Amino acid sequence: MATASALELKNIYAAYDSADVLEDVSLSVPAGKITCLLGSNGAGKSTIIRSILGLTPPRSGDILVDGESLIGLPTHKVISAGIACIPEGRKVFPKMTVVENLRLGAFQESSESVIRDRIDQVFEIFPRLKERKGQLAGTMSGGEQAMVSIGRGLMAAPKVLLIDEPSLGLSPLFVKENFNIIRRINEQGITVFLVEQNVHQTLAIAHYGYVLSQGHVVAQGTAKELSENAEVHEAYFG
Ligand SMILES: Nc1ncnc2c1ncn2[C@@H]1O[C@H](COP(=O)(O)OP(=O)(O)OP(=O)(O)O)[C@@H](O)[C@H]1O
Ligand SMILES: [Mg+2]
Repeated sequence: MATASALELKNIYAAYDSADVLEDVSLSVPAGKITCLLGSNGAGKSTIIRSILGLTPPRSGDILVDGESLIGLPTHKVISAGIACIPEGRKVFPKMTVVENLRLGAFQESSESVIRDRIDQVFEIFPRLKERKGQLAGTMSGGEQAMVSIGRGLMAAPKVLLIDEPSLGLSPLFVKENFNIIRRINEQGITVFLVEQNVHQTLAIAHYGYVLSQGHVVAQGTAKELSENAEVHEAYFG
């Protein structure tokens, strides 16, 4: 039996004003797995994330979480439905401490004990954040800010974690560390939808993947199939 989809996009079209960006995008993110979306600059990867979040609502098509449609929902309802996002560029709140940033990720949770448990879980994954819990996020290194933004995403205890280009602008050492962290988070049962341009390292941790080019899905398959697909490499990654 096929694994159930935690998140599914069906025939999505999206545009900014007059510019069509996504054309007939369909993809499925199975529960418990890492699914990646590869594609070069401007392919429409972040637009897919924006569509899921309701920030750039699709003109047509459907987006389902555990079989329930997200179409027409405002972003906070999309988040209540179980979607969390680690945005491109990480976007920590610079004048807030590490713990204050983490707490924002759990803004829909009212139980203080649940919030504290989640903070402890984040500190288990990132001991570095525990050491620096009172530090202003804006004064931390890029790698540390990446930990804050991943931790903030986890604080929502999401059904699906969307991650937009986590390795962008990080040093090679931290890029490697970041991919290891995403793998560990997934091993704890979190479903991940990972948007990346870093083909080799992404396919090394992903189970399944899609390749987007100019707003179209041009290839899909298991990570192994995509890494062996020479045509895909030549055409879309140089
Ligand atoms: N707010 C906007 N208004 C108009 N056009 C936009 C807007 N945001 C993105 N676009 C255009 O939509 C297309 C897809 O952009 P998108 O940000 O989704 O690409 P991407 O795959 O995430 O690229 P990158 O890897 O550079 O982040 C691009 O041509 C871009 O110029
Ligand atoms: Mg992008």
